[in-house]
Formats: sequence, structure tokens, C-alpha cells
Amino acid sequence: MIVEPLILHHDTKTTLPGLREALTALPAAPPAITFAEYTALTASVRSLYDEARDDYLRLTLRVPTPEQELSTRILAKHIISNPRRKNSRRGLMVSAPMFYGKTELALLLARSVEQDHAKKFPDYADNGEVPVVWVEVTDHATGKALLSQIIRFLAPTITLPTQITTDNLRRRAVELLHVHHTKLLVIDEAHNLGGSEPSSVIKALQNESSATVVLVGINLASGKAFGSGEGLQVTMRCDLVELRRVDIRTEEGMALWRRWVAIFDRNLPLCEHIPGTLTRNAPALHAAADGRLSVLAMIIERLMGLFGLSVGVMG
Ligand SMILES: Nc1ncnc2c1ncn2[C@@H]1O[C@H](COP(=O)(O)OP(=O)(O)O)[C@@H](O)[C@H]1O
Ligand SMILES: [Mg+2]
Repeated sequence: MIVEPLILHHDTKTTLPGLREALTALPAAPPAITFAEYTALTASVRSLYDEARDDYLRLTLRVPTPEQELSTRILAKHIISNPRRKNSRRGLMVSAPMFYGKTELALLLARSVEQDHAKKFPDYADNGEVPVVWVEVTDHATGKALLSQIIRFLAPTITLPTQITTDNLRRRAVELLHVHHTKLLVIDEAHNLGGSEPSSVIKALQNESSATVVLVGINLASGKAFGSGEGLQVTMRCDLVELRRVDIRTEEGMALWRRWVAIFDRNLPLCEHIPGTLTRNAPALHAAADGRLSVLAMIIERLMGLFGLSVGVMG
């Protein structure tokens, strides 16, 4: 058996090559094998095999969520209408507590925008088009820092004068977004923006650039960056999608949770795994995960790890 290792070259999505790698790194599951075959693998092939299962689980095996559907729909609408507006352009806010699948959702949106663009313009990358720009806000970041990140994403070799004004930075950012036909600007960890300056920068960006802004962060609608004062101006121009835990006391919630567990169950890359065990335990998994998809995914990952380990010891 030949297991091709997945080699990733970039640590962050905040550069164009890094983002493109993140958008395309969807490794397939390694071939299904029996216990006997697994234990017979040499140590090095076995560890490659385990790695491949892990990569598949972590990067490829995703379940559909109602929020994905909703935000895909909203975003598609904004991407069409924003370039046709001269003001009041709309954005999207993806908000939830820590570790709820926010970044994962934004990545899915980014991938779908990039793929749509690629379908319409197959040579887009060679033509220097950058449909998606991804920035991540660090602690206590300013609007100015945000603009510099956008500029560096699109023009990594540029040197910016140290004394450059916010207005100048914004003009450059807007021009670069325009030149590169950017449709989507993802601002992850947006809760790290604070005060009125970042909101006014984002508002101005929305006025001057037709790229649709997606703000992703922890409890954005109520947090200090966008929940009050100047920040409300940005919030009011955004549709809000909040990720929540699933309540299985409702029929709908139960059906959704069972569907997720069943998808993991069916696709678990374990030797001789007979789907059904996980699905039968969906309510117990709900209790253990506190109704959260991200925790369910983590439990499944741990399960895989344990399983691989125990077989490894037996071998
Ligand atoms: N749709 C999904 N299907 C499977 N796993 C998911 C999905 N969305 C999120 N996850 C899992 O949840 C974990 C946390 O997601 P992440 O997007 O990093 O959370 P946040 O940005 O809210 O802190 C990820 O490691 C991922 O494995
Ligand atoms: Mg995140």
C-alpha cells in the first residue's frame, strides 16, 4: 500500500499562497484496510497511514450545518448586489463563543467564493485575480493594522512608508482590492478590534470597495468592538449569523444532531468499522459534547487517536 503524505507549506491563511493551500487541502481518506493488514504494516507506513486518517478527519470530513446554508445564501446575494451599490453595502457577521466552528464556516464560504470565481474565470490566478482576501486580527489591533494586512496580502513585496496616514493606507487597500477583483474580504478574530477607529475604517472600506466584508469573531454583536457606539454602524450594515449549540429536545435539533453523528459514523476511517455504533449513541454524544459540533468533532478525533493507539499496541 502506498500512502501519500500530505505536505503543507504554509502556516497561515493570511497570505495568498497560504489561503490557497488552506482552500485546496482536502486530502482523501486512505484506503480501507482490515485489522490484520493494519497490524502487518511496518511502523513507518503505519504512522503514515494514521497521519492520513487524521488529515482526512481534520481537513476533509465536514458536516453540513444550517448556518452554512444560511450564510452561503446571504453572502451570494451580497456579492452580486454590493458592486451595484454606491453606498449601504452589506456585509456578514459570523459570531459565536470560542471554539464553535466560526473559522471553519468562514473557510467554507471562502472556498465556495473562490471556486465559483474559478468556474467563471479559469485563468483567474494567472491573471492575478484574488477573489478572496483573508486577514486575522491580533490582540488590540487597530484599523490601520487591518489595512496593512490587506495590503500585504495583495502586495507582499510592497514597503509602506512608516509615517503613512490611515487615509492613504485605506486608499491603497481599496485600490488593490479593486485591481485584484476581490469579492470577499474575511476578517477573522474581529473581536480583537477595539474602539471606534477600526469600525470607521471598516465602514469606509465598505463604502469605497465593492468587496463584501465578512467579520468573524467571538460574540461580535454584543462585544465591545461592534456591540456599541461607532461599532453599531458596522453591525447595522451586516447580516448576523450566530452559531449555537444544538438542542435535541426539539425534533429538528435531534434530527440535525443524529445526522451529524451519522455522517461521522459512516465516514470514520477506522479498520473494519461497522457504522451504527456512534449513531446509536447520538444522545450520549450530545451530552458529552454539550450540543456543540466542534466538541463532537473533537471527541471523534480523540476516538480515532485512541483506536489507532490500541491497535498499534496490539500489533
Ligand atoms: N462543519 C463542521 N464539520 C466538522 N467539524 C467541524 C465543523 N465546523 C467546525 N468543526 C470542528 O470544530 C473545531 C473548531 O472550529 P473552529 O472553526 O476553529 O472554531 P472557532 O473559530 O469558532 O474557534 C475545528 O477544529 C473543526 O474540527
Ligand atoms: Mg476561529
